[in-house]
Amino acid sequence: MLYSLVRPFLFSQDAEKAHQLSLASLDKLGCLLPTPNLSSNPTQVMGITFPNRVGLAAGLDKNGAHIAALGKLGFGFLEVGTVTPKPQAGNPKPRLFRVPEHHGIINRMGFNNDGVDALIANVKRSRGDYAGVLGINIGKNKDTPNEKANDDYCLALQKVYPHADYITANISSPNTVGLRALQSADAIKSLIVALKEAQQALAKTHGYKPIAIKIAPDLSDEAIVELAAIFSEYAVDGVIATNTTIDKSAIAGAKYAGEEGGLSGLPVREQSTHVIRTLAQALDDSIPIIGVGGIMSADDAVEKLAAGARLVQLYSGLVYRGPELVKQAVAKTAN
Ligand SMILES: Cc1cc2nc3c(=O)[nH]c(=O)nc-3n(C[C@H](O)[C@H](O)[C@H](O)COP(=O)(O)O)c2cc1C
Repeated sequence: MLYSLVRPFLFSQDAEKAHQLSLASLDKLGCLLPTPNLSSNPTQVMGITFPNRVGLAAGLDKNGAHIAALGKLGFGFLEVGTVTPKPQAGNPKPRLFRVPEHHGIINRMGFNNDGVDALIANVKRSRGDYAGVLGINIGKNKDTPNEKANDDYCLALQKVYPHADYITANISSPNTVGLRALQSADAIKSLIVALKEAQQALAKTHGYKPIAIKIAPDLSDEAIVELAAIFSEYAVDGVIATNTTIDKSAIAGAKYAGEEGGLSGLPVREQSTHVIRTLAQALDDSIPIIGVGGIMSADDAVEKLAAGARLVQLYSGLVYRGPELVKQAVAKTAN
């Protein structure tokens, strides 16, 4: 209700400015909001008890700087990041565009973040203020060549591991040149082996923390089935499907349709659900899927679960529908 009054003002601003403004306001308002009862529908996934099935997707809180305030919105889990080993500025602005007539967003942020050490400091400060599950999403720096990508992921993993409930390796952002090439069979195998080795070593001192792999929606069915076989063979703990799409055909003719970057929101919904369904059939329930992409209503969240996801995440829906969407999705996805 309140958000529908605020939204026209936010949408009159530059998209990135509105994003900063929303987070700053939420930080201020957050302390006034009551702490929600998150545990409406506890669900075991990847060996973790999630208080409910609805999480915040990565990219909104890249530095983990707003955990306490975002936690007040009722999410059962928050995924912060993508964080890279070193800080980096991301792409030049403008790099974030709303496509309101399609309820979509195009972004080419390019992993702008303050680096893994800054994220950890933020997480340490605010972790106690949030009772839900915390995921930390890791990536590689722009200037790290793909041949050295594993080093970046392992370095970030080592640093975030003690502070996360689960870790996501993001190999599907379209905004870091070459990143999606890490989804090819050879590259992904070598990355998973490296991450699993590091995970085994870290588990001895910090306990076992699951690692999920986040994939793109722009994969052929054959590629999805091939990836599923690799995920099973190497015992990946979870798959997050999907990231943004580079396919802009759903918004052809719109003002920003020609902008470079990944498209999210309603235009990616069907594609993302198709990937989830194809992946779920190929995995035959052996590895849990976290479904994300175009959840703009509580029914969309249910659709992702029906396609085979065990949990869902959203980002663009929050921009278009506001915090009410979280409450509605949590209620509708409860058993
Ligand atoms: C502005 C913006 C920035 C994003 N940044 C990241 C990121 O850093 N890491 C990541 O894994 N996904 C990132 N994403 C992708 C989202 O996590 C999500 O996978 C995608 O937007 C589809 O979900 P949605 O339709 O609910 O937004 C970003 C999305 C948006 C809109």
